[in-house]
Amino acid sequence: MLEKIKETAQYLQKYVDEPIQWGIILGTGLGSLADEIDVRHRVSYKEIPNFPVSTVEGHHGELVFGYLGGKYVMALSGRFHFYEGYSMDKVTYPVRVMKLLGINRLVVSNAAGGINPAHEIGDIMLIEDHINMIPEHPLRGKNIDELGPRFVDMKDAYNPQMIAAVEEIAKKADIKVCKGVYLALQGPTFETQAEYSMVARLGGDAVGMSTVPEVIVARHMGIEVFGVSIITDLGLPGKMMNVSHEEVQKIGRVATPKVIFLVKELVRTYNK
Ligand code: HPA
Repeated sequence: MLEKIKETAQYLQKYVDEPIQWGIILGTGLGSLADEIDVRHRVSYKEIPNFPVSTVEGHHGELVFGYLGGKYVMALSGRFHFYEGYSMDKVTYPVRVMKLLGINRLVVSNAAGGINPAHEIGDIMLIEDHINMIPEHPLRGKNIDELGPRFVDMKDAYNPQMIAAVEEIAKKADIKVCKGVYLALQGPTFETQAEYSMVARLGGDAVGMSTVPEVIVARHMGIEVFGVSIITDLGLPGKMMNVSHEEVQKIGRVATPKVIFLVKELVRTYNK
């Protein structure tokens, strides 16, 4: 697999105009973050050797290279979900490639169901930690020693200094944010009432179907991670609602400008 990753990175190297520090994965409803990038190169997944191609509506399927907050970044517009049928290797492939292209910081965003009683629809939750309940681990199998260790330390998987920086940015801009634990399930069904209750009892504040595989692989390679969820629906007893992909995308879009602002300011100002 390492040879394939190297081949892909080699192909993309021509778009690396300057050293890239930040990679960004744009989740459901957050695709328009890409519009904020002063784009230098757009590369369709279809033209990239060994790259998977995305199938979900609302996910574009291109890599964007350009400037955000004055920094040269690469963004993944359209991610790969395990529920689509991709292997974990494919789901996390872009993160491997990003690392070979030089990134050491990753921003991941997603839409999620809220289970914390304090949550309201449209809330922005900074991910403090995760619980992985997707029934396959992205690091299962032979370890690629060149990329990272067999056993990966997951303490502070979500960089506490980045979280503190974003809290400060949010406070100054009067943007309400909360913090919590993201629990990942396979999907593609949204949760039943009983499942939302289970997630809450297990210690999740929000539940979704993505992000965790990419974060695990990023941590395997020593990439610092900042993660953010937009709470697009609620699974609380008494507040549970019907959920649809369209509704998730609609609510996601409403919160997007605030998330964009936070991410842009983080990239612009973070200097640790
Ligand atoms: N559950 C799982 N995934 C989701 C949800 C949810 O309630 N909302 C957005 N993505």
